[in-house]
Amino acid sequence: MPSEETGRLLVVDSDAAGQQELLSELAHLRYAVEAAANASEALELAEASKPDIVLVALEARGMDGFEILGQLKALLPAATLIAVGASASTDSTVEAMRAGADRYLTRPLRADALALVLERSLRKAGTASAMLPGRLDHIVGAHPAIQRLFNRLLQAAKSRSTILIQGETGTGKELIARAVHEHSTRREGPLVRLNCAALAESVLESELFGHEKGAFTGASTRRRGRFEQADGGTLFLDELSEMPLSVQVKLLRFLQEKEFERVGGNETITVNVRVIAATNRDLRSLVDDGSFREDLYFRLKVVVLEVPPLRARPSDIPLLADHFLRVYSEENGKHLHGFTPRAREALLAYPWPGNVRELQHAIEQAVVLCEGDQIGTEDLPIEPPDREVEPLSLMVPGVTLAEVERYTIMRTLEAVGGSPTKAAKILGISKRTIQYRLQEWGHIKKG
Ligand SMILES: Nc1ncnc2c1ncn2[C@@H]1O[C@H](COP(=O)(O)OP(=O)(O)OP(=O)(O)O)[C@@H](O)[C@H]1O
Ligand SMILES: [Mg+2]
Repeated sequence: MPSEETGRLLVVDSDAAGQQELLSELAHLRYAVEAAANASEALELAEASKPDIVLVALEARGMDGFEILGQLKALLPAATLIAVGASASTDSTVEAMRAGADRYLTRPLRADALALVLERSLRKAGTASAMLPGRLDHIVGAHPAIQRLFNRLLQAAKSRSTILIQGETGTGKELIARAVHEHSTRREGPLVRLNCAALAESVLESELFGHEKGAFTGASTRRRGRFEQADGGTLFLDELSEMPLSVQVKLLRFLQEKEFERVGGNETITVNVRVIAATNRDLRSLVDDGSFREDLYFRLKVVVLEVPPLRARPSDIPLLADHFLRVYSEENGKHLHGFTPRAREALLAYPWPGNVRELQHAIEQAVVLCEGDQIGTEDLPIEPPDREVEPLSLMVPGVTLAEVERYTIMRTLEAVGGSPTKAAKILGISKRTIQYRLQEWGHIKKG
């Protein structure tokens, strides 16, 4: 698992005692801190580590803090620059701001004031990084399908609406849920998660809504449920399809009336909670076979974030592979130079039924096993797609027209050695149609 990312900080102070003061104030905060003692060190580290925040001492001997601020501003336009001065005079504040500082702090620094400024700056940095091309926060994805999802996510996050996240296993539903919370006005509030599949029916109800003392055998005290814990924030209900019908009724009531009672209680409790639910099953078909309430389904269907499977966004495969390669190389202290061309091909051709999670594990394993300086096919735990999996005959009735189409196109392509032009002739369709379908099925990269 990649570790929780905190901010990167750079301290610039030529004076050893002053530098020590800054560093010791920062010591108990969870930042990755580096220190520079002069302008050239500062610029070098700024370039190499791209810090989110830089603290620059203004009156340190042998360096011009104001000039350094200006240079850093040009080098790191998105970073927060904090000038640290000896006096709180208006003049020096204004001069520091002119030079490029975003904030001005005076010595002696107070740890709590510093922590507050850093928190704010990081949040600013977080919003900025949300707009970087190819990702949303820590979620990697440049394919148009996932970019559309990011846009919908940012829009939906601002509302109070209940959100349903749908997608196959390992597509990143939990990351998406977190991002919704982080980009909502509730980000300061709690994000409480409950996996509906992990608990038995009776336990799930009291876990969600809490219970009164004596509500059932073993309920020796009153207990607040997850809804109460999430007050002012977000409740993330994972694997919603596994929620029993009896609990679904109570959830529906909460979504409509914003209220509920604890198990065994009469008091009606109102909380301010946004619900995000996730599922990797098709709720519509669960409604059809009676294991999911239709009214709840319609209530949840209003805002749906559909996370596309990895094979539907093949251009993200190399991006994600490089991302995980960086993460796990660092974690394992290895210096690897990417993938061999054949390994890249294998990654692209594989259908990734376990989606991003499967890719993540594959790269982690490859990094650990790799003995050279590049990941090769022999390091990857995947086989080229197995042709025998394709059905040899199609059951009619029983098969969908889409399956017939896919089967026919793939078999024709195989017979003509993969040439879309030849296949198109035989099938009586355009070459364009074949290419479009292949993209859709994740067999080739979008151009
Ligand atoms: N776009 C992405 N960028 C970076 N990491 C990702 C991305 N999508 C998923 N991951 C990583 O893949 C793993 C699986 O993601 P996650 O747990 O969110 O999947 P899920 O959709 O909730 O799966 P399941 O239905 O099995 O619970 C996590 O480690 C997550 O960090
Ligand atoms: Mg999940």
